[in-house]
Amino acid sequence: MILRTEIATILKAPPIGETVTVMGWVRAWRGNRFMVLNDGSSAETLQVVVDGEQFDEETIRGIGFHAAVSVTGELVESQGAGQAVEVIAKELTILGKTDLSTYPLQPKRQTMEFLRENGQFRMRTNTFSSVFRLRHAVAFAINKYFNDRGFYYLHTPIITGNDAEGAGEMFRVTTFEPDSAPRDEAGAVDYGQDFFGKGTHLTVSGQLQAEIGALALGKVYTFGPTFRAENSNTSRHLAEFWMIEPEIAFADIDNDMDLAEDFCKYLITYCLENYLSDLEYLDARIVEAEKNLPKDKRRPMGLLEMLRFVVEDDFARITYTEAIDLIMRSKPYKKGRFEFPVSWGVDLQAEHERWLVEKHFKKPVIVRDYPKDIKAFYMRLNDDDKTVAAMDVLFPYIGEVIGGSQREEREDVLRQRMQEMGVHEEELAWYLQLRTFGGAPHAGFGLGFERMVQFITGMGNIRDVIPFPRAPRLADF
Ligand code: 4AD
Ligand code: MG
Repeated sequence: MILRTEIATILKAPPIGETVTVMGWVRAWRGNRFMVLNDGSSAETLQVVVDGEQFDEETIRGIGFHAAVSVTGELVESQGAGQAVEVIAKELTILGKTDLSTYPLQPKRQTMEFLRENGQFRMRTNTFSSVFRLRHAVAFAINKYFNDRGFYYLHTPIITGNDAEGAGEMFRVTTFEPDSAPRDEAGAVDYGQDFFGKGTHLTVSGQLQAEIGALALGKVYTFGPTFRAENSNTSRHLAEFWMIEPEIAFADIDNDMDLAEDFCKYLITYCLENYLSDLEYLDARIVEAEKNLPKDKRRPMGLLEMLRFVVEDDFARITYTEAIDLIMRSKPYKKGRFEFPVSWGVDLQAEHERWLVEKHFKKPVIVRDYPKDIKAFYMRLNDDDKTVAAMDVLFPYIGEVIGGSQREEREDVLRQRMQEMGVHEEELAWYLQLRTFGGAPHAGFGLGFERMVQFITGMGNIRDVIPFPRAPRLADF
């Protein structure tokens, strides 16, 4: 059996004077004497003092960048600046060496693109190990938040026959070979003969099934992978991303907005309270990366400042109609600086969302009551007959992190909306029945997990907050 102490454990309450065994990867090897080790247990490293004379030459030569080593020695107070304690190596074993002449990573700043291509190693860098610890932290905090408040975690299917968002951006699931798929008399592929006896896809959202749960268990949430075949090659879109979708019965759009705001603040507070060393590292990294940029190209705020800004401010709440009005009266609009056109009825683009948040309100913004024509069929029609009880939560730097709504619980109105939007009743007979029998006002939302992790870590590209990103022309590992 292997016995070792994790570095985070040692640094939490350093057992000065005791002999410890640590195992980790070499982050730096300075002056042939100081080895900096990290084992993934936190962002912090442990310095090991190696007296070259004590070990054979091959062992010393084996201490390379990212080599895996085992060290046993006495933990002492450090003489040098920069660390409180260090280990004086008595035993040193190279568990796995790295040859720098062929190892893809080098001890210098590497581009994000390069690291993405070398995804088998990128988690060993300071940046990515912090990112993935925080990704875990957010996932854990999500489950804790809901569990502590009496929500039930509901697992909705990944393979489904319905397009919840009605946007047609789905990946088909089939066992047919493209060339030999059976065809019907009209020459169309006959999915009736396929594995499931009908056409199926990867889900774009677990919401419709979550509604089944809410209308029985009261408060549920889903947290799973979702898939969208939208050809958006942006720093905010993935083809495979994770979504958290709470669904609550006996609730309207105001309850929904309150839940969304409280939830966002909780997740960020949890990271600030439990993962500060990772956040501090990422904060400093952004300052360093942007130091040579002109001021107007730098981010509006430091990372920690931006996180506190979300936690400390009440979110502004406005209607879509007010948002359009504000944007059309804004300086960048009048000076023609927005790329996309604006008028009542169009969807807001990230540039408009970020203007509202960063320039106008200077705090997170919830926009509600969007035009019915640009939103999904299930959203509750408002009394004006033109808008629906939808809401989007907008953050600085990222734009939309949450999209949600009060659901249409009136069967006749829902049927009408489905007809207008070309949603087939036969496919969603069960969904309509939730209204026919024991329906109740209910609401929910979807938080894009990677968008939230991107916000909390400050990473510029959403592909760098998911271990193995899937995007157009990208499906490695
Ligand atoms: O706004 P969306 O499309 O809402 C829904 O899917 C609803 N069914 C949610 C609900 O009410 N239960 O997506 C929700 C969130 C967005 O706000 C965004 O943060 C994220 O999911 N999202 C994406 N994240 C990464 N890549 C993509 N391609 C995304 N599309 C949406
Ligand atoms: Mg949306």
